[in-house]
Amino acid sequence: MIKIAIISQKGGAGKTTLAINLAVEAERTNLSSLLIDLDPQSSATEWSDIREQDYPVVLSAHASRMDKLIQKAEVNNASFVFIDTAPHSENAALESAKIADLVLIPCRAGILDIKAIQSSLNICNLAQVKALVILNALPSQRTIEKEARQAIEKIGGNVCEYTVGQRIIFSHAMTAGLGVVEFDVNSKASREIQNIFELINQVKKDAK
Ligand SMILES: Nc1ncnc2c1ncn2[C@@H]1O[C@H](COP(=O)(O)OP(=O)(O)O)[C@@H](O)[C@H]1O
Ligand SMILES: [Mg+2]
Repeated sequence: MIKIAIISQKGGAGKTTLAINLAVEAERTNLSSLLIDLDPQSSATEWSDIREQDYPVVLSAHASRMDKLIQKAEVNNASFVFIDTAPHSENAALESAKIADLVLIPCRAGILDIKAIQSSLNICNLAQVKALVILNALPSQRTIEKEARQAIEKIGGNVCEYTVGQRIIFSHAMTAGLGVVEFDVNSKASREIQNIFELINQVKKDAK
């Protein structure tokens, strides 16, 4: 079982979007996953309430319950645990980073967004866990991607080769209680989520 924490101290970076879409893609490929929703705003849990499917299982929890929930997921042979975290909660982010095999840090390409990931990178250093920054909601004009990569690498971030574009399908799918791979499997957004999923699924194989 591989545990992925999704952290960023900035709201709106794409944590919940990434968490639910990766969990749905895991289920679609028959790899069961648990999504632990640590955000008191419970966006992932509310998304799950709209769904007609029972999977992926989404549990709203306090960070102090994480160990127990992860143990249960292990007993139930889950392949993945995704931990969606709240912004402005450094303690919970640190707890989840310590538990995780890999941390994903979604980040929009703006300079203020990039500056804000420093604290997430510090948390990952403290937790001694590998972190990958996922450039999210990139505009179609991609010169900004190169600049963003350089700026993130300069502050010590490791940027994922795969990025996610600014795509309205993410909002449509979330509103419908779906992942983008369920909403339109042939969409560009689906391909982006699948690429990131294949990468984290590889981490699992490497870890074995
Ligand atoms: N790649 C994207 N393209 C378009 N909209 C996005 C994308 N990623 C996130 N969003 C939208 O941005 C908003 C914030 O995303 P969310 O995942 O809730 O962020 P966080 O959990 O980090 O606060 C949501 O309305 C979501 O639909
Ligand atoms: Mg969120």
